[in-house]
Amino acid sequence: MILYKTAEEIELIRESNQLVSKTLAEVGKHIAPGVSTEKLDQIAETFIRDHGAVPGFLGYQAYPKTLCTSVNAQVVHGIPSHKVILEEGDMISVDCGVVMNEFYGDTAFSFQVGEVKDEVRRLLTITRECLQKGVEQAVEGKRVGDVGYAVQQHAESNGYSVVREMVGHGLGRHLHEAPEVPNYGRRGTGPKLKKGMVICIEPMINLGRRQISQEADGWAIRTADNKPSAHFEWAVAVDKGKADVLSTFDYIDKELNKLNS
Ligand code: MF3
Ligand code: CO
Ligand code: CO
Repeated sequence: MILYKTAEEIELIRESNQLVSKTLAEVGKHIAPGVSTEKLDQIAETFIRDHGAVPGFLGYQAYPKTLCTSVNAQVVHGIPSHKVILEEGDMISVDCGVVMNEFYGDTAFSFQVGEVKDEVRRLLTITRECLQKGVEQAVEGKRVGDVGYAVQQHAESNGYSVVREMVGHGLGRHLHEAPEVPNYGRRGTGPKLKKGMVICIEPMINLGRRQISQEADGWAIRTADNKPSAHFEWAVAVDKGKADVLSTFDYIDKELNKLNS
C-alpha cells in the first residue's frame, strides 16, 4: 500500500533527509587513507544524536551500525568495521539513515579516497548522473518504470550495468515503503507517480557485469566479478512538473571543493 504524505509530513521528511545530508558531509571530511569505516560510523552516530535524531539503520532488521559503508566491489550494506581501513584509490559508498519526528531520512553518496583511477572517477560521475536522470522522471503522471528506464538507459549507454536485486523504495514513517523503485524498467509501466508520494531513488551501477553475491556476514552485497560499484541516493517528493528533492549533496560538494582548493 502506498502511503501518501501531506505537505506538513513532506517538510518533516525533508528535515530528516537534510540531517542525513549534513551527516554525510561530516563523514566525508574524515574520509582519507588510513581511516577505518568503524571510525566513520562513530562520527555519524555522534553527529546524528547531537542533532536530536536517532540512527535509522541501527537495529533495522538487526542491522548493527549507523552507516552502510561499501568499499570498491561492495555494492551496498557493507558493515563498518575497525578491520576495514581505507586506502588511497578506494571508493566508498556511504549510506545513512535517521529517524526524527517519526520520519525517516535515507541518503547515500559515493566518495573517492584520495586519487582514484580514471575508470572509477567516470563510474562515479555517470552514476551520479543516473540519479539525476531518475529524479527528472519523478513527476506526477509518470510511472515508476519511467524512473528505472532513465537510470538504466544512462548507465548502459555508458557501458555499465545495473544491479537488479536491490531497488529504491517509498520513504516515510517506515524506512522501506511501497512502491519499489527499480533502477531498470520500461517506459510507461509500473505504478503511477502522484503528488504526495515520497520515494528514494538509488542507482547501484557496476563497472563490469550486473551479477552480485552476498558476503558471509549476511549483509554486504558485492559484485560477482569483483569490479567496482557506485551508489547514490536521494529522497524526493513527487510533484507536478518537477520533483521536490528532499536530500542534497550541497554540503558534501562544499567540503570536497575545500579539499581541492
Ligand atoms: N539504506 C538502505 C536503503 O537505501 C537500507 C539499509 S538497511 C540496513 O534502502 F539495515 F542495512 F541498514
Ligand atoms: Co539508503
Ligand atoms: Co534507500
